[in-house]
Amino acid sequence: MSPLVSGFSKLSKTDKIKWLATHHFNNDPTATAVLTTYWNSDEKLQRLHDEFTENTISNYYLPFSVAPNFVINGKTYTIPMAIEESSVVAAASKAAKFWQKRGGFTAKVLSTTKVGQVHFLFTGVPDHLLQFFTEIEPVLRASVSHITKNMEKRGGGLKSIELRDKTAQLDSYYQLHCTFETADAMGANFINSTLEQLAKTLVTEAKHYEHFSISDKHIEILMSILSNYVPECLVKATVSCKIDELESTATLSAEAYAKKFIRAIQIANIEPYRAVTHNKGIMNGIDAVVLATGNDFRAVEAGAHAYASRKGTYTSLTHAEIKDDTFTFSIEVPLALGTVGGLTNLHPLVKFALQLLDTPNATKLMEITAVAGLAQNFAAVNSLITTGIQQGHMKMHLMNILNQFEATAHEKAKLIKYFETNTVTHNEVVTQIEKLRTS
Ligand code: MEV
Repeated sequence: MSPLVSGFSKLSKTDKIKWLATHHFNNDPTATAVLTTYWNSDEKLQRLHDEFTENTISNYYLPFSVAPNFVINGKTYTIPMAIEESSVVAAASKAAKFWQKRGGFTAKVLSTTKVGQVHFLFTGVPDHLLQFFTEIEPVLRASVSHITKNMEKRGGGLKSIELRDKTAQLDSYYQLHCTFETADAMGANFINSTLEQLAKTLVTEAKHYEHFSISDKHIEILMSILSNYVPECLVKATVSCKIDELESTATLSAEAYAKKFIRAIQIANIEPYRAVTHNKGIMNGIDAVVLATGNDFRAVEAGAHAYASRKGTYTSLTHAEIKDDTFTFSIEVPLALGTVGGLTNLHPLVKFALQLLDTPNATKLMEITAVAGLAQNFAAVNSLITTGIQQGHMKMHLMNILNQFEATAHEKAKLIKYFETNTVTHNEVVTQIEKLRTS
């Protein structure tokens, strides 16, 4: 059991590691050596990473990969992806190549509005509150002008403030429901700072509002925070081709393939157990781009899954149809992304990722990211309805198993060759390694 400690964050990095070694690893130096192995020899770079969060003791690497050949709205992209799952980048690249030969992806941002709320309690007369809000709305707006000024210059700002009466659901509960445009920033700090100021102004104005009775005057602010539910920060990406341009297999004609594909999407639409896995595959692509470009994947995940449930049941984020011999496959997903602020100008790999994408603005990045999700889903469903997922997955996972057994370059080459024509299973890899080593 971990002992309690006070003042841990004040310790130096070395002392934090010593504390861990003493209390968790019986002072075994090999246990903590792994931490220093991952330190960067460039001290400035290491300091930058240390200061991203509190109590940093090392760096946690993820592979930073690229998926080329994505044609999006007629332009070719190589998409950066940060992800550990073996088969994701290969699957994305394969889907990109497939659709590149069929006109590529089209993508369009449908809206970019974000939401934030001041949650408060009010026990007075509801009509008085509404009257008060109507009168002080200009004061509320004026009180945040010092925060919104710069964002307005960039085309964004605080768009609307609405008083919402939620007392039917929760006693005395009201909201200022605010909408925002945040230009190329994800905008969390901008939104939260604006909301906190609105909350302060609301309380101050209530104290001085002459038409309030004593009981009306008390507004209790509960919290002021942006919402990660962004159904109006939405992007759509699509691919389509004539049915006969789809690939047929020995057992499946192009038409049968298209129909099977559509069935798979229909299942994800009506069966939550499948929909969650289906959308997880989509998020494999989306999160990888979100991470590589320094955006907040937890926010994106929360928003995407909430959107998938917006009609009361959890459904697929992608849709497929056949119309007039044309197969169309699309995704509609909320993505609150930024290309300025946050890590974008700090993390060298994030800077690289954005440059690789030709320095996109936030809407372009939304389009690219949605395409990565759609491509990933296409690749997954394609495998599921043809070969099954394990063939490709285990092929990519082979290297992980070989590394686990510390296979030499020679052993790797031999076994990769062997598994070109044999099915990869953990057992079979182990058997083959052992055979190689004893022969
Ligand atoms: C694995 O990470 C993702 C898949 O399960 C997605 C899917 O089933 O559609 C392959």
